[in-house]
Amino acid sequence: MTEQRILLAGATGAVGIELLRLLRARGRFVRTLSRSPENAARVRGLASEVVVADAAEPGVLAGALEGIHTVVSCLGANVSMALRERRSYQDVDVVANTHLIEAAKRAGAKRFVYLSAHPGPGYAHTRYISAHLQVEERIRASGLSSSSVRPTGIYTALTDLIAMARSGVGAVPGDGRARTNPVHPVDVAEALVEVLAEGPDVVSVGGPDVMTRDEVMRLAFAAVGKEGHVVHVPAGVFRSTSVLLAGVHPRLSDLLEFVAAVMVSDSVAPARGTRPLRAWFEAAAGGRADRPEVSER
Ligand SMILES: NC(=O)c1ccc[n+]([C@@H]2O[C@H](COP(=O)([O-])OP(=O)(O)OC[C@H]3O[C@@H](n4cnc5c(N)ncnc54)[C@H](OP(=O)(O)O)[C@@H]3O)[C@@H](O)[C@H]2O)c1
Repeated sequence: MTEQRILLAGATGAVGIELLRLLRARGRFVRTLSRSPENAARVRGLASEVVVADAAEPGVLAGALEGIHTVVSCLGANVSMALRERRSYQDVDVVANTHLIEAAKRAGAKRFVYLSAHPGPGYAHTRYISAHLQVEERIRASGLSSSSVRPTGIYTALTDLIAMARSGVGAVPGDGRARTNPVHPVDVAEALVEVLAEGPDVVSVGGPDVMTRDEVMRLAFAAVGKEGHVVHVPAGVFRSTSVLLAGVHPRLSDLLEFVAAVMVSDSVAPARGTRPLRAWFEAAAGGRADRPEVSER
């Protein structure tokens, strides 16, 4: 049988790099696509081929998908508070993934696997989640065989809590009682591998432990060995800041709108993940080794 080649977009991301490791360990051909040459340098020794391009720009993918059977997209604008990407999730996630879908069709690819996000009812309306659901819809409409994997919050997005815990004060948006089961990036990468060849339209992925937002913060305090003090910040503060930032930094505006909603709503998905948050926090705090290197992007 001819080898089924994979194009992995977002291979330098928190989940993408874990997926790249898993696929290469299985001997698969993986051509990677990411935007920053500095980040791409980290995957050069691992990937079969490397393409550097800003997929949100028109016309840059010509040739990038030649000979590809399956596109896996872990591509999305960053979910950190870092300032570097100003463009909204609509302008990056929807535009870049639409370019990928179109390029996949043109190149005769057969399957599209997408890393989406779990849309809990209390925050599915936000611009961040809506961008992911739009991408899913466009993949379905393309006629390609496809699956979308929808994780809850990934541990990498919680690593900043360790620095906060060290300061002795943990700011938690809302009243801290909303529940969530965040998930390890390797558990998400494994869920993507499972649907690589075939799988359901949508797979939701949560981690092993359902906790309140206060319990997540207390786990971070425990990892740094501090008693700590939790301060509840009204979600309205994040909503107002989101409105103020709309014209200045569209992505941060989208992110704060999402934070204001997700931190006061339950975000719980089926517990497919097995790796506990405690070990991740301990690694990030300098204790046991788990995956500290991917938490530092
Ligand atoms: N982190 C979470 O808690 C979480 C939870 C649920 C869902 N998700 C979703 O899962 C996806 C991946 O998340 P992640 O945390 O792994 O993200 P990440 O670490 O920020 O990685 C994003 C990847 O996308 C690439 N990328 C971004 N813009 C691009 C562009 N215009 N052209 C080409 N490549 C581009 C980045 O490349 P460079 O390295 O070159 O910038 C990077 O490889 C995102 O859609 C995210 O919204 C994340």
